[in-house]
Amino acid sequence: MLALSSSLVVLASLATLVSAQTFRLATYNLRFDSRPDSITVNQSIASIPDPLTQPGFLSKSGEQPWSQRRLYIAERIINEGTAIFSIQEGLVRQVNDLQELLGSGWSFVGVGRDDGKTAGEFSAIFFRLDTVTLRTVDFFWLSNTPDVPSKFPSAGSIRICTAGKFTTSSGTNFTLLNTHLDDQSDDQRKLGGSMILTRARFEAVVNKEPVLVTGDFNSQATGSDSGAYQIVTGALAPVAMNATFAAKFAVPDDSPPFTLLDLREQAPPLLVGRNFATFTGFTAPTDTSQWKRIDFAFGGSNGGWTAGGYKVETSLTDDGVLASDHRPVFADVTL
Ligand SMILES: *[C@@H]1O[C@H](CO)[C@@H](O)[C@H](O)[C@H]1NC(C)=O
Ligand SMILES: *[C@@H]1O[C@H](CO)[C@@H](O)[C@H](O)[C@H]1NC(C)=O
Ligand SMILES: *[C@@H]1O[C@H](CO)[C@@H](O)[C@H](O)[C@H]1NC(C)=O
Repeated sequence: MLALSSSLVVLASLATLVSAQTFRLATYNLRFDSRPDSITVNQSIASIPDPLTQPGFLSKSGEQPWSQRRLYIAERIINEGTAIFSIQEGLVRQVNDLQELLGSGWSFVGVGRDDGKTAGEFSAIFFRLDTVTLRTVDFFWLSNTPDVPSKFPSAGSIRICTAGKFTTSSGTNFTLLNTHLDDQSDDQRKLGGSMILTRARFEAVVNKEPVLVTGDFNSQATGSDSGAYQIVTGALAPVAMNATFAAKFAVPDDSPPFTLLDLREQAPPLLVGRNFATFTGFTAPTDTSQWKRIDFAFGGSNGGWTAGGYKVETSLTDDGVLASDHRPVFADVTL
């Protein structure tokens, strides 16, 4: 009897092992292409210096054109073994360039936030085709009219959320929401946090899926402008949102409470990299006055996931190039 129950336990844990899948998730604000040029991806690749030659250490400073930065970003994403990669601030050229650099093993979903097509910045999600399959994607605007490209009254820009619904290659469904909240309006950030929490809760409760959320919140986890973070983590109540949206993503009244859990806090402490700031600006590490943590990765409190390693990597290389004014955040997630 004992032998029988232990083999059942072994079988049960084997079943869990077989169906679990670990992948590296990243979120990286690319910095929009503020210095466009007509240099092709292949021309950039052809300009890569001899890898055996010592660079001029810290010989460059400030913001380099996207035609250079894209090489550093793609290199980091690929060499880190990333499987799902959320971006912010990508203009259409930038997402197309990344697709070209990452290659045919990857795909992405995203639209320009200004028209729902190609205008303005994408909060896109890139994914490896051997790791996940896309089921559906939809987009909503973090404004009073979520179905159409629209700006919240006091916001600096139009703001969007990309909702990708995926299945891992071992058959687990999950939802990933990716966003970039406003830089000027704390009210917009609170609304955006409330809408994302509402949508995440719907996927958790109604569709019973693990939920991951990535984003540049343009605001920190603590302090006077931390409303969005406080709302998604349950420390503050959500604010009122468009009633049609709220009704569409409502859950039954007796549903358990739902919040987002910060993967930086959920990962084993030993495996949390000691870099903290995710925004550094295009400044040398000797000037930390702008440094702050505003890019996040979360898992839904309904579970279905575990967090492994978590780290914020530098964007600076020996030659002085900063790949972006943000740093990439990496989180290993098991679903
Ligand atoms: C870039 O170079 C690769 C490898 O040589 C080639 O397959 C590809 O067609 C080139 N892309 C363009 C847009 O010319
Ligand atoms: C709520 O959103 C829907 C869909 O975007 C829109 O038709 C409706 O006018 C919005 N309601 C208000 C009060 O703005
Ligand atoms: C995953 O979602 C699809 C619908 O998008 C559904 O048909 C399928 O049964 C789901 N799989 C699991 C394991 O729940």
